[in-house]
Amino acid sequence: MEVNDQLSVLNEMLEDMGKQPSLYHPQARWSRYERRLERLLKEHSLQNFRANYEITKGFTDGGTPRPTLPDSAWKRAIWRALVRSPGVAQIVREYGRILASVSNGRRSVENCMAKIVMDELISQFPRIRIPQGLESGGAPNAFEWRGHTITADWVPYVCRAGDLYRHHSADNVSSLIEIGPAIGLSTLAHVALNKNIKVIVNIDIPPVTYICGQFLRCFRELEVIDYSQTRKLHEIHIQPASDGRVRVYQLPPWSIEKLRGEVDLFLNARSFQEMTPELCENYARNVNPLTKSAVMLHLGDPEQEKLDENPDYILGRSHVSSRKIIRLFSDKFPSMRIVDEGRDQKYNYDGHRAVILTNS
Ligand SMILES: C[S@@+](CC[C@H](N)C(=O)[O-])C[C@H]1O[C@@H](n2cnc3c(N)ncnc32)[C@H](O)[C@@H]1O
Repeated sequence: MEVNDQLSVLNEMLEDMGKQPSLYHPQARWSRYERRLERLLKEHSLQNFRANYEITKGFTDGGTPRPTLPDSAWKRAIWRALVRSPGVAQIVREYGRILASVSNGRRSVENCMAKIVMDELISQFPRIRIPQGLESGGAPNAFEWRGHTITADWVPYVCRAGDLYRHHSADNVSSLIEIGPAIGLSTLAHVALNKNIKVIVNIDIPPVTYICGQFLRCFRELEVIDYSQTRKLHEIHIQPASDGRVRVYQLPPWSIEKLRGEVDLFLNARSFQEMTPELCENYARNVNPLTKSAVMLHLGDPEQEKLDENPDYILGRSHVSSRKIIRLFSDKFPSMRIVDEGRDQKYNYDGHRAVILTNS
């Protein structure tokens, strides 16, 4: 399936972001990231975004790694002139060849690992409904598995959803909110493992929520509601679709304040730790009253966290500790269990802690 561009949706978000308090502007490293993505999305179509290393960097396998060029147009022009100059061009070509070969080798190992993990998962979830179109956007890591096309980058998200549903019945989850879902692979994992799911609310910074929405439109089981459809609303009432599809609200950060209604589950995977404490607190303040029964958090690498005993620690950039993230939800959801199955020890796969907080 082709991922279509619809830059008007991105432009509306960028225009409205300027009118929001600074809390709702991308923070720390995400502000640079946002500027770069904004430029790239105007220069490149989304048709092959999964194979565009610069666009997908930080989220998924975007093909052979390439240098991330500076935002300044004149610096990029100098770079391009340099790499095309005689002598240098030959060296760059040779490094490109080596990089391509190393990254193809890594990809084939990752695909093998993903097949092993899927074989294990299917024994626990024999009724999995694999969405058609996972390779949309030109994914470089697609492979065939038992008659389906899947992508290696999707498999960790199915494992994470599996960690949830092994401990918390899918019968109790018909709606969820996720902050920081990136390109939406976790949305597709929940759709695959949970036949009861009806509504998903995804909130991310404008360029990412735009890419995610356009990608998710490729799936016939989803109805994507984007920013242009909610922009003028004073309140966004979380409601299922009227035609039996799963409704996905694809929203920017400031829309959190407009949400009304209830969801069964709140999800955050490895993104609160990259935000400022104030932003995490604001999200928790808005999300707690909306969330009925559970919170699932994917926390930082436990080994890395041992490096610092402070609750809000600085590790190169601004990070919020796992302890602090849990505390944001533990008044309402005091009961906690660790649910990842030690996959990192077993496979060195998706290594981080996953916890579910509930109110019972
Ligand atoms: C490290 S990535 C994690 C992505 C995905 N959840 C995963 O586990 O692979 C962090 C995510 O947080 C998002 N993010 C950054 N700042 C944000 C903000 N202010 N509000 C919502 N999402 C944000 C990023 O765009 C990205 O999708």
